Amino acid sequence: MLKRATFPAGFTWGSATSSYQVEGGWQEDGKAESIWDRFAHAPGRIVDGSDGDIACDQLHRYPEDIALLRELGLGAYRFSVSWPRVVPTIDGAVNRAGLDYYDRLVDALLEAGITPFPTLYHWDLPQWQQDAGGWADRAVIGRFAEYADAVVRALGDRVTTWTVLNEPQVFVTHGHLEGVHAPGLRDLDLTLRTSHIVNLTHAEGVRAVRAAAPGAAIGSGFNMDIAYPATDDPRDAAAAERHHAWVNAWYLDPLVRGGYPLAFVDQEAALDRMDIRPGDMEAMATAFDFIALNMYSRAVIADDPSDARFGLRRLQGPGRTNDFGWEIWPAALHKLVRRVDADYGHPPIYITENGCADNARPGPDGRIHDASRVRYLEDHLGQLARAIDDGCDVRGYFAWSLLDNFEWAAGYSQRFGIVWVDFQDAGLPRTVKDSGHRLSEIVAGGALEYDDSLA
Ligand code: FCB
Repeated sequence: MLKRATFPAGFTWGSATSSYQVEGGWQEDGKAESIWDRFAHAPGRIVDGSDGDIACDQLHRYPEDIALLRELGLGAYRFSVSWPRVVPTIDGAVNRAGLDYYDRLVDALLEAGITPFPTLYHWDLPQWQQDAGGWADRAVIGRFAEYADAVVRALGDRVTTWTVLNEPQVFVTHGHLEGVHAPGLRDLDLTLRTSHIVNLTHAEGVRAVRAAAPGAAIGSGFNMDIAYPATDDPRDAAAAERHHAWVNAWYLDPLVRGGYPLAFVDQEAALDRMDIRPGDMEAMATAFDFIALNMYSRAVIADDPSDARFGLRRLQGPGRTNDFGWEIWPAALHKLVRRVDADYGHPPIYITENGCADNARPGPDGRIHDASRVRYLEDHLGQLARAIDDGCDVRGYFAWSLLDNFEWAAGYSQRFGIVWVDFQDAGLPRTVKDSGHRLSEIVAGGALEYDDSLA
């Protein structure tokens, strides 16, 4: 049945970006190299040979971007803080000039009536930490907590909501197992050890933020692809659960439910390789004030005994795809929110990323008719409204991304922005796309319907 979508009063509407993807100024004001600077500068890593040296130049153009947020009627901005901009050396000394940028950004957002929604880590690890062993070096736990403390003390008088990490599963797996993201490694043992240290760091980071800003709301951004079993066969259902465990719950359950979920065919052997030390499980116990979800697609999963690790295979589903080839399945957002609501005790939930690669370019009329993204946003927001109607406590939605930007290994070849950026023009002019206008309409209360029969 078709129903009218409504969003609760006080619902947060925003858009998101991350430091390396938009800031530029990679060596400015004392900023040190990050693993993404190093990775992108190495030949052959990024499909179009590009890097984030300049990106959208938000470091200088943030007033223009804040004006865009205002124009679109978005009340919140999710950005991330670059650790090597704030702490350029391993001795931990804070770079005032680097931190000042975020100070200016926060002030300018507040002046425009926009709530800052910062993330402390969105993948740009300082290269100095990588040189010391990266995320596999336990010293990272204390160093991250010190960095978090410095940022929260500097901005905590004005920032009331913090997210600590962005998508731990992605930066661990893509960076250490699949080698497609910085630091470009391919090693399962290292991945396992790293995942555990990331979890310990995460918990310590939450404690640091809590201590520095006792009244703030604290969460983290988890990427989640809800898993659909390929068939009714119970073996496919079990495989889908293992996928859920490894991709969606591995970085959340140890923190809030006291243990690692069952992801591996031989779970015991996997846990043995993780270097879990006495006291670690207790040290990981954390409470979040909200759970932030990043959602783009879903996963269709079949049992596959030939996969020795997880015993599964991911299939391409029948839905239409975005320009990146990711399947579009709006009902997956409803299903995901329902599952997180049920599994984690009805937590407040924010969707901190959701969006679509749609490479539509300006047409003869100068406008960007990104019809695929318009439909994506409408359909996903509809399914989110459905989850809210079902009783889930969803507090906000952030479209990824405010701007076309440096899309990691895809460079500038994939565009996720609701605002077009002309990277051929040195002035990096921005133009709101049709999707930006449509989002703005929905935010202002524009009509939207959802189908409550989609599965
Ligand atoms: C997410 C990342 C974000 C962006 C989108 C498309 O996994 O958090 O930075 O690249 O995917």
